[in-house]
Amino acid sequence: MKLIIINGPNLNLLGKREPEIYGSISFEDYFKELQASFKQVELSYFQSNIEGEIIDKLHEVGFDYDGIILNAAAYTHTSVGIGDAVKGIETPVVEVHVSNIHAREAFREHSYISPNANGVLFGFGLKGYDLAIHSFL
Ligand code: DQA
Repeated sequence: MKLIIINGPNLNLLGKREPEIYGSISFEDYFKELQASFKQVELSYFQSNIEGEIIDKLHEVGFDYDGIILNAAAYTHTSVGIGDAVKGIETPVVEVHVSNIHAREAFREHSYISPNANGVLFGFGLKGYDLAIHSFL
């Protein structure tokens, strides 16, 4: 089972950025916990602040991997390109958001990813990534 977590812009600041919303653990530390919890999964991680790099990564893994866990962060709400990439690939995508995007500003309620995602998890904090991995097992 080959899964990848793809994180979008500003998620490299997890642990430092608005900790009251996103928590105080860095994703690198949390990723180590995930690797320890899911030893049977070949789990990789990619983060970029650049829209095109996220699209390139989706194309690269999207015909080969068993699952993609995608938190496109702010691009969720703006990127037709990432939405089209998710639609165009074969690997199932689970969309994750750390925060409850429906309990925040109105602009966060729309997602270009959700219509083509197999499932969506939001509001569970970093645990959402753990739940997303479980959804593929
Ligand atoms: C986020 C929610 C987005 O609205 C926001 O732009 C992010 C993070 C989340 O994980 O809660 O950067 O995707």
